[in-house]
Amino acid sequence: MGARVESAFGAVKLTDRVYWVGAIDWALRDFHGYATQRGTTYNAYLVLGDKVALIDTVKGPFAKELLARISSVIEPARIDYIISNHAEVDHSGALPEVIAAVRPEKVFASTEGVRALADHFHLDREFVAVKDGETLSLGGATLQFIATPMLHWPDSMMTYFPEQRLLFSNDAFGMHLASSKRYADEIEHWVLEYEAAKYYANILLPLSPVVAKGLEKVKRLGIAIDMIAPSHGPIWREDPGEIVGWYAGWAAGAPKKKAVVAYDTMWQSTAAMAQAIGDGLSEAGAVVKVLPLRASDRSELALELLDAGALLVGSPTLNNAALPTVVDLLSYLKGLKPRKLVGAAFGSYGWSGEAVGQIEEALRGMSVELAAEGLKVRYVPDGQALSGCRALGRQVGGRIAGQA
Ligand code: FEO
Repeated sequence: MGARVESAFGAVKLTDRVYWVGAIDWALRDFHGYATQRGTTYNAYLVLGDKVALIDTVKGPFAKELLARISSVIEPARIDYIISNHAEVDHSGALPEVIAAVRPEKVFASTEGVRALADHFHLDREFVAVKDGETLSLGGATLQFIATPMLHWPDSMMTYFPEQRLLFSNDAFGMHLASSKRYADEIEHWVLEYEAAKYYANILLPLSPVVAKGLEKVKRLGIAIDMIAPSHGPIWREDPGEIVGWYAGWAAGAPKKKAVVAYDTMWQSTAAMAQAIGDGLSEAGAVVKVLPLRASDRSELALELLDAGALLVGSPTLNNAALPTVVDLLSYLKGLKPRKLVGAAFGSYGWSGEAVGQIEEALRGMSVELAAEGLKVRYVPDGQALSGCRALGRQVGGRIAGQA
């Protein structure tokens, strides 16, 4: 890429020294199993000092969009340094093409990042490892690297621009939200809260202790932040403390008196049980979400669990096993390590009825405390069986009714 070019893709000036030069992915609907109904952005930032740095790149197919946006500000060949905050390919996929176009003097990453980039791209060039706290002077602009291992990969780091109190936070404080707007204060608040929570629930939930430590570290370092520029979704300029506060709450994970009932059904028997259990939970004072798995994606369910205190899962038995939708859900949730949940299993069956036991085993495996013995109904629940389901709901609901 040579001189500046005219293009449909322009940069967005964030400050006198920082431009957003990322890409908008309006079409993304599946981020390895996480349903992204609103698409996403891959944010990259240009920092102008005497030297010029590019912070992160974008997903591979968007390389030309990135280069075009850079070209609207400077010739890409003027970039001296590339900072790779994170090696996951939604941020580094375009790196080989950008390196070839820009020929930067140096590409910086954390020590783990250097290894990860080498193992991803097998390029014939060296990457430069930076340590936690190390600074890079651009001349008139300083970049400070903050290691954030396992937030959410071993290589993850953030970059801080102290003169402008601007934190390039990489995946943290992001969300999957494609928009023509670049700032959070230009987007409806409920959309921000919904998408930020969904992102946290589906990506960061298992790392909540690391998130809590990371927030402590930022506090300890006394880093003043006027703007948070994450790698996905909008930039926080008016009140960056708001999303930091949301993260503190989600990381603390205080459960509410909310119960999630997830089920699949063959001939509506397990569906009838789920409905009756939901009624019982309501009678006990719980806020109830009944989610039929044929109509709810797993990432929606993970979001609902973010502030829930109870999880009840139901499946009929098919070929001696729970239905595939239920097995899929349990496998997904196990990885997300939901915390502080009580729960129970239920389901109809015809002759063998293994599904309920399998669900209980899976719930125990994710440290859900079983509040009641699993409930099985042969073929079709009658009035008495449905009363039993309501009683199960009341029993589990009673365990969480005292929560906020
Ligand atoms: Fe961990 Fe947005 O990549």
